[in-house]
This record gives sequence, C-alpha cells and structure tokens, in this order.
Amino acid sequence: MNTRSVVIGCGHYLPSRIVENSEFEATLDTNDEWIRSRSGIERRHFAADHENTSQMATAAAQAALDDAGLGADDVDAIILATSTPDLTFPSAATMVQAQLGMTRGFAFDVQAVCAGFVFALANANALILSGQVSRVLVIGSETFSRIMDWTDRSTCVLFGDGAGAVLLEAQTGEGTAQDRGILSTDLNSDGRHRELLYVDGGTSTGTVGYLRMQGNQVFRHAVGKLAATATTAMERAGVTAGDVDWIVPHQANIRIIQGTANKLNLPMSQVVVTVQDHGNTSAASIPLALSVGRDRGQIKQDDLLVMEAIGGGLAWGAVVLRW
Ligand code: UT7
Repeated sequence: MNTRSVVIGCGHYLPSRIVENSEFEATLDTNDEWIRSRSGIERRHFAADHENTSQMATAAAQAALDDAGLGADDVDAIILATSTPDLTFPSAATMVQAQLGMTRGFAFDVQAVCAGFVFALANANALILSGQVSRVLVIGSETFSRIMDWTDRSTCVLFGDGAGAVLLEAQTGEGTAQDRGILSTDLNSDGRHRELLYVDGGTSTGTVGYLRMQGNQVFRHAVGKLAATATTAMERAGVTAGDVDWIVPHQANIRIIQGTANKLNLPMSQVVVTVQDHGNTSAASIPLALSVGRDRGQIKQDDLLVMEAIGGGLAWGAVVLRW
C-alpha cells in the first residue's frame, strides 16, 4: 500500500477582458497571421487594473474547493506557483490564504516561471508523501501583462493572464500505476541559460522590470528537454506512451506542443490544447488546461496524464498523474 496525492477538485479563473491578435496591429508592426502561424495564439485574457495574481488565484482555488465540496479550513497547505506576485513579499500564497478565510496550516510561493506548476505539484506531493499534510491546494496564477514591454512585438503578443488550481488529498493506493494520483515527478534546471528568458527588474534595479526573451533560442531547447523529462517521468511511473490518455503541456507555442507530442509518439488528438485562447500564462497554463480540459469532457476520472513544462532558468519538468 502506498500514499498517493489524488486530485479531488479543480477550477480556474480567467479575467473577462479578451484581446484578439488583431488588436495589436494598431500599435505594433505585427499581424494576426504572424502570431497565429508562429505561436498558435489567437487571443488572450488580460487582467483589469483592479485584478491581481492573488485575487485570480483565490477565485481558482475557491472553485477547486467548491468542486471538492470542502472548505478552506479543510486544507493543510497552499502552494502557489507564480513569477508575478502582487508584492515582493509577503507571498501571494499567504494573501490567498487570507482571502479564502483559511485560519490554519501554511502557505508559500514557488517560483520556477513557466515550469512553476510542475515544481509546485512535486513539492506538494513530497509534503503529502512525507506525512506532513493531507490536503494541499496547488495553484498557478499569473499577471504577465504587468511585466510586458508593449513596444516589444517579439514578446508582448505571446503572454496572457489567468489562474488554475487543483486540490490534492492523501489517499491510499495499491502502489501500482493503476492508482489514482501522482505516480511520478521529474524536475530539472540549468542556470547557465538564464539570459534566454528573464525579467530585467528586481532588487538590483528597484523596478519591476520587463520580460526579455530570445524566443528562438528557448524554442531550440524546448522540444528535446520536454520529451526527455516526460520520458523520464513515464519510466519512473512504470508506464509507456501507449498507456497515456492525455498530454497536458505548458501552453507556450503550438509548434512546441506538436513537436513534443510527435517525439513522444502521441497524436495531437491526445493533447489538451488551450494556447489559442489563453496565450502563454506561464505557471497558470497547465492548471488552466487541466480545468478547461476537464470541463470540455476531455479529461475523465482514471485517465493517465503527462504534464510537462519549460521556462525561464531554464527550469523544466514533468508529472505523471492518474486523474
Ligand atoms: O513559456 C516559456 C518558454 N517560452 C517559450 O517556449 C517560447 C519559445 N519560443 C517561441 O515560441 C517562438 O520562438 C516565438 C513564437 C517566440 C517566435 O517564433 P520564431 O519562429 O522562433 O521566430 P523568430 O523569433 O526567429 O523571429 C522570426 C522573425 C524575425 O524577423 P527577421 O529577423 O526574420 O526579419 C522577428 O523580428 O519574426 C519577427 N517577429 C515578428 N514579426 C511580426 C518577431 N515577433 C514578431 C511579431 N510580428 N509579433
């Protein structure tokens, strides 16, 4: 018998403002055809001035709690993956804790940029397997619109805002790949590549800064590293591509998503794709895809999922989970 971290609820929040690709044509030397063909993105949501990362995270977390039929004080911990916290500190997770009305347990942020949700899931799983907690809210929430240089067409058309959350619960499994819950995780980073994707602000500048990316260089790393981490995680879980029902990838670029699925020998009909509607929402992209994929009727109980993501650091990883 093994302890497993099982998803018992999920939810998401998207700001109401939707911006189509064509809207950028008024201010930038770009067009819908370039954005669509190079990235697969057609539109994205942007937070309103009064919305921020913790509020969106709270809305997604509340939806996950409602989905599970539980209250905030039934939860032992909150782990929030974000690179765009409301303030440098306290953590956005503690703000979510207060906004949910949760008066016990603990909360902290994880910062691994676009791989943040995978890192947060692995941390939550480790806390559950060590017996320290029984229920953990794992959230990805981002307001990347706040760190965009609106004069840089190579980045500002790619990102969006939103939040997604899952509620994990310790349950007992048989110790086989048939168990529901997290079956394996694989985390990686290589700080030598930090100049490929970073924000040029922080305590060293006294400003929040803007996102800077050498997109084609990140692209060059992405497919190989994503396929490798997904393969490692599948081997650890004792499953093969033939066992997988859904790839739930980080939603940065449809060409990266297709290339990775191809390397893993899985058809696009088994990939949850939301990049066309959300753009790249960094740490929020996988939990958004989980929740939307579930709502669409794609992801069903007992389906075997492989999640994979890469982003700034570089940091990348994968999680194999039976829903
Ligand atoms: O989520 C974190 C990880 N991030 C990613 O995974 C992003 C990975 N990278 C990508 O998704 C792609 O590299 C991009 C979508 C960012 C760019 O696509 P690309 O095919 O790699 O294009 P490129 O950067 O090589 O640029 C090609 C051309 C350039 O012009 P020249 O030098 O060929 O004349 C760019 O200046 O496209 C130009 N360009 C644009 N043209 C119209 C760049 N941005 C735009 C734009 N509109 N918005």
